[in-house]
Amino acid sequence: MSSLLINQPKYSWLKELGLSEDNLGVYNGSWGGSGEVVTSYCPANNEPIARVTQATLAEYEETVQKAREAWKVWADIPAPKRGEIVRQIGDALRKKIKVLGSLVSLEMGKIYVEGVGEIQEYVDVCDYAVGLSRMIGGPILPSERPGHALLEQWNPVGLVGIITAFNFPVAVYGWNNAIALTCGNVCLWKGAPTTPLTSVAVTKIVAEVLEQNNLPGAICSMTCGGADIGTAMAKDERVDLLSFTGSTHVGKLVAMMVQERFGRKLLELGGNNAIIVFEDADLNLVVPSAVFASVGTAGQRCTTTRRLMLHESVHDKVVERVAKAYKQVRIGDPWDPSTLYGPLHTIQAVEQYLAAIEQAKQQGGTVVCGGKVMDRPGNYVEPTIITGLPHDAPIVHTETFVPILYVLKFNTEEEAFAWNNEVKQGLSSSIFTKDLGRVFRWMGPKGSDCGIVNVNIPTSGAEIGGAFGGEKHTGGGRESGSDSWKQYMRRSTCTINYSKDLPLAQGIKFE
Ligand SMILES: NC(=O)c1ccc[n+]([C@@H]2O[C@H](COP(=O)([O-])OP(=O)(O)OC[C@H]3O[C@@H](n4cnc5c(N)ncnc54)[C@H](O)[C@@H]3O)[C@@H](O)[C@H]2O)c1
Repeated sequence: MSSLLINQPKYSWLKELGLSEDNLGVYNGSWGGSGEVVTSYCPANNEPIARVTQATLAEYEETVQKAREAWKVWADIPAPKRGEIVRQIGDALRKKIKVLGSLVSLEMGKIYVEGVGEIQEYVDVCDYAVGLSRMIGGPILPSERPGHALLEQWNPVGLVGIITAFNFPVAVYGWNNAIALTCGNVCLWKGAPTTPLTSVAVTKIVAEVLEQNNLPGAICSMTCGGADIGTAMAKDERVDLLSFTGSTHVGKLVAMMVQERFGRKLLELGGNNAIIVFEDADLNLVVPSAVFASVGTAGQRCTTTRRLMLHESVHDKVVERVAKAYKQVRIGDPWDPSTLYGPLHTIQAVEQYLAAIEQAKQQGGTVVCGGKVMDRPGNYVEPTIITGLPHDAPIVHTETFVPILYVLKFNTEEEAFAWNNEVKQGLSSSIFTKDLGRVFRWMGPKGSDCGIVNVNIPTSGAEIGGAFGGEKHTGGGRESGSDSWKQYMRRSTCTINYSKDLPLAQGIKFE
């Protein structure tokens, strides 16, 4: 049996994050955990990194109670002062950005710069939330009744449960955490069971800030676990908003459980994103965009390009150039600075990759590049391009969370827009064109039906300033920037009579 990586001198930096061989997976002001022990494995070599003891349902129960107690303190703190705490969280993350980014790379398997990029996103959203802490508010509206004021008051919902996916083990929590806190909520986080060390390391950084400010640590609680803890959160009436990021399949189960209790939910589910390349596109932008968005993070982003639709006049040329670029992608250990492409997260994902390629072949596809598992330790597969499939082949309409790009050939704009929209998912979409009219048609009512609608850039790599999320089976939620904060608050329409009369709305007389 191999020893844990954390004990090897090469990985001693993990201790800078407060991690050890065995880690407690519950935080609610104090650390605990007496549930199932999970070992976290490195996807690049399948070696065990360290262990985490997850929460029991009893510990979940205790944590919810402590979080709700903590809310009584947090909700009374003025929003700009809450923003100051969020600012300190951002600063604490800045200090650990490299080492935390390295952990993300080691545990999730994404390349180092992307691991660091995730922490940067959390830092950026903290900065954004600090500004927001002095700006959130509702309008004062004209009342039709004399001597009356009509206004909107926004209040925190209370306890925000946050369930996150393996592929963004820091950033997704960060988006939710920074905005939810600023709005006056407390958080309870359950990360993915295959990235528990990242959940523990992030929570240690956040907890230190709270404790230094003499605030209850349960303001940012964490219960590591799997479907058991996730289900408990979905069914729990005390979880005032459940923010769920993950697959459409699990998201649907979660959504039904939350709806059953008329709870609030924010769903960020699967995508099946397309890049559409028109005859007038600048191919010098198209090729690196298609490669970044389909090969980046080894195809494990919700915004990964899975369908590349090429106008028939540029089809062969683009396939040739993209396939050539695929062969030059540097594959290696994700923490090696020169690597552009790392492993899949799990062995199961390798099986899904092989099964999807088989199905694609059966449905009429031709593998023009890749298609094989790589002969090296870890979960490495070749980035793959498949041509010749019908636009509506079942495999093309499926989000397989691996680096397989389906190339489709189209003739008209109408056809391409229709194919973009015909899948169940509605997350991200891009066109490449110089035609200004087409750009506005793409953004308009008969254009892309996705939450993210891009022009001359890839489908992945969103900024935090905009609202992030998608329509249809992607769940309809919006996180991060713009007015996404509204999802973390409840709106009260308040009418105040400051006159001595009682006029009724719509001129109704009741006397
Ligand atoms: N739209 C977005 O913003 C976004 C972002 C990242 C990932 N994703 C999607 O996430 C998926 C990949 O992530 P994954 O494989 O970790 O997803 P997943 O659905 O398997 O797991 C997501 C989370 O749900 C938890 N979970 C599992 N069963 C549950 C249950 N019955 N009740 C409650 N929680 C439960 C898991 O433990 C995990 O924390 C892809 O489909 C991807 O598109 C979407």
